[in-house]
Amino acid sequence: MNIDALKSVANAIVAKQKGVLAADESSPTIKKRFDSIQLESTEENRRRYREILFTADGTERTLGGVILFDETLRQSTRDGVPFPTLLAGRGIIPGIKVDQGTKALALHPGNKVTVGLDGLAERLAEYRQLGAQFAKWRAVIEIDERDIPSPFGIHANAHALARYAALCQEAGLVPIVEPEVLMDGAHGIERCEAVTAQVLQAVFAELDAHRVLFEGMLLKPNMVIAGKKCARQAGVQEVAEATLRCLRRYVPAAVPGIVFLSGGQSEEDATDHLNAMNAMGAQPWQVSFSYGRALQAPVLAAWKGQEGNVAAAQQALLKRCHLNGLAREGKYSRSMEAAT
Ligand code: 13P
Repeated sequence: MNIDALKSVANAIVAKQKGVLAADESSPTIKKRFDSIQLESTEENRRRYREILFTADGTERTLGGVILFDETLRQSTRDGVPFPTLLAGRGIIPGIKVDQGTKALALHPGNKVTVGLDGLAERLAEYRQLGAQFAKWRAVIEIDERDIPSPFGIHANAHALARYAALCQEAGLVPIVEPEVLMDGAHGIERCEAVTAQVLQAVFAELDAHRVLFEGMLLKPNMVIAGKKCARQAGVQEVAEATLRCLRRYVPAAVPGIVFLSGGQSEEDATDHLNAMNAMGAQPWQVSFSYGRALQAPVLAAWKGQEGNVAAAQQALLKRCHLNGLAREGKYSRSMEAAT
């Protein structure tokens, strides 16, 4: 394992003002996104959309990395430049989603587990050859009134995340470890904090047991936030404080960066929460973003699948990248949404 190389990639992804664009939607997920703009999910439409994202000028100032899906890692621009080569040439590190989605956890009703460990070592070797320098694996933890997640459900997901992370580091790829506590449901922010705490504690215990080098990984957690259907939604400052309190208790200072998922928050909320955390002063790790929907929703809405809208779509991406870059330094305010 080349420790210095892993550390240097992990640190570059979360360099000053930088974060990650998650553009790794699986085929069913990108179909859902395209449905929202009445666009058919053909291979060419998916390729063209990712080309629009990856060629947007100026985004290299705030994107340290982009996460791709298997199909996308193998695709190229119209001019025949493979996407990983294009991104690397712009100073943006290409990464790859390597999990294969969730399944019901056998004999544990209500709990899910992420699959994809079989053959992972071989896939990682191929991805590295294709230009990926980091990887992502997403575990999904649902909160329900009836004792869900169960302690074993949490353990099974933490174990799989650690198996994945160890394989990545052995293959020379930086693992992004993503345990996502979903914001679906009616639970309050307190329950989200308690479950997130249990999950992070289990994840780092497993990572340690698997000998994963904390300095050569990144954590992609949810923010601590009330469920979407909860009557009491916490304010921006409350979310920022609860999230940092929880992370400071359970995430080792050796981890170079936290890159939050957006999880269904509006793009403004995701930026505002990130800003509020960075405005609270220096933390043991970089506090950054790895947003999918919160970066892409306005891009899809502007593009609508039409060539005439490409410039507006790229402008929409640049705007979100720029505002999140400011939020990395606690210098964003909502009034900038109208101005930019
Ligand atoms: P969202 O920001 O849309 O939650 O996506 C991030 C991601 O990569 C989920 O795995």
